[in-house]
Amino acid sequence: MLRIGLLTSGGDCQALNATMRGIVKTLENNVGADNLEIYGFEDGYQGLIYSRFRIMTPHDFSGILTRGGTILGTSRTPFKLLDTPEADGVEKVPAMIHTYHKLQLDCLFMLGGNGSTKTANRLSEEGLNVIALPKTIDNDTWGTERTFGFSSAVEVATECIDNIHTTASSHGRVFVIEIMGHKVGWIPLYAGVAGGADVILIPEIPFDMKNVINTIERRMERGSRFTIVAVAEGAITKEDAKLSKKEYKKKVASRTSPSIVYDIAREIEERTGRETRVAIPGHTQRGGEPDAQDRVFATQCGAEAALGCIAGEFGYMIAQVDGKMTRVPLKDVAGKLKYVDPTCDLVREAKALGISFGDE
Ligand code: F6P
Repeated sequence: MLRIGLLTSGGDCQALNATMRGIVKTLENNVGADNLEIYGFEDGYQGLIYSRFRIMTPHDFSGILTRGGTILGTSRTPFKLLDTPEADGVEKVPAMIHTYHKLQLDCLFMLGGNGSTKTANRLSEEGLNVIALPKTIDNDTWGTERTFGFSSAVEVATECIDNIHTTASSHGRVFVIEIMGHKVGWIPLYAGVAGGADVILIPEIPFDMKNVINTIERRMERGSRFTIVAVAEGAITKEDAKLSKKEYKKKVASRTSPSIVYDIAREIEERTGRETRVAIPGHTQRGGEPDAQDRVFATQCGAEAALGCIAGEFGYMIAQVDGKMTRVPLKDVAGKLKYVDPTCDLVREAKALGISFGDE
């Protein structure tokens, strides 16, 4: 009998169900449904801590390839609080280890992003058999060139930019669009290029407002009626990039809104005289169905993880490197972010065709 646990942790994304389906289908096909016990932990690590699970069958994973979100529910269990007891005094790590052994699990499949992978690494160090799968719309997981959720989020953000284009052009306005991505700029970079943004501001390339204003004024001089500015939620000015973490946090806390887009929009309107609006697609970027690319990659991740489990190999995250499916040891992934390289081809090419990143 193979006893497995599944959990989805952190912010959700479109291809979590597709990934779990990939795991379970592969296990069913290779060890048989009769030799499989599946425990689906509810709401991420919380389910493991409090032993809240569903006993599931392969049938439960049928028909969910296209369904966004997660059938198990999710939650954030911050890594930095892992050794801080829950409000009711429950010690998280010992409780998770207890649940794992109580159910006599052979493997825990953890679908999660950076923080969740750190916790997975900790559990692996504590002797549990863990396989992590790279979930996040942000695409910031170190050790893999792709994460599932990213492609679908780029689609949503691109559609938002497309829609804004028509109204911006009708009204002759500047639009500042906030795009998700936490501390990295992968989604705004890809959606910005795909949606034909004129300015893309990402955390990896600190910007100067004067360059953004110049770009807009040049466009106005050339007769363009509108400008689209795609802004990563973590975008930062050159000036702010010089501040210490503490000083920067203080500055963000002093803004009217934690989002930088309102400050950018106000300054653009004041300095160019052009009517400027803000658009925030927000969590729609994590919602809806996974696109075809994500469905395929999620299925690949699920299949590889299941095959690894059958082979009795644990303690890694499934990854894609140079287009090939591979594994990266959890200890190598934990705690590292994958940033956009400001000198990468896509940034270089985008600049070549006149997209401004506000740095020059
Ligand atoms: O990690 C995914 C993400 O959507 C980030 O892009 C964003 O910064 C964050 O989660 C939002 O978190 P929450 O859903 O907790 O508001």
